[in-house]
Amino acid sequence: MGIVAIGTVRGSEIAENKDADEKSRLLQVEFTNADDLQTIEQLGATGEDSNPQPGARVIVIDLGPSYRVAVALSDELEPEVKAGEKEIYSYDGAGAKLATIKLLSDSSIELNGDADNAVAFAGLKTAFDQLKSDFDSLVSAYNAHVHATTATVSTGSPGVLSATVSTGSPTTADIDPAKIDSIKVP
Ligand SMILES: [Fe+2]
Repeated sequence: MGIVAIGTVRGSEIAENKDADEKSRLLQVEFTNADDLQTIEQLGATGEDSNPQPGARVIVIDLGPSYRVAVALSDELEPEVKAGEKEIYSYDGAGAKLATIKLLSDSSIELNGDADNAVAFAGLKTAFDQLKSDFDSLVSAYNAHVHATTATVSTGSPGVLSATVSTGSPTTADIDPAKIDSIKVP
């Protein structure tokens, strides 16, 4: 067993592994000679499934007679995160990052960007329920109100207008508590 070489990914496919007992991702890996393309099984970490774009670099380890695996990948994109941080991303063939999840050292998480904040259901429900309650109170007041007037149809002087005595109150609903400071979104 040992490191055979560092190669460059030129393509990939999901196919049966050497033992034909399970599906694996097989990488087409180029070494120093561009004509020397080898099919090598990708061996990733548990709980992960990542498919490298062509151009990614792999370390190929020889595990025994004619059994090699690619165990490490570098997509050749420029590193960005600071010490202790982690970013998970997808990317296109031109090396542009697409979907991103950043776990940052200030305890925040950024999902595809940081321009806005995520919101939590409980806070929204509290605010919505308050708004609904306030609205329903206003509806009740509106439905119950009567107009005080001294007008008599077709006779006498015009009636006297006066403000209703069954008034509503401005809502106190507030969604600010639903804001999650530590989770940022686009
Ligand atoms: Fe009225």
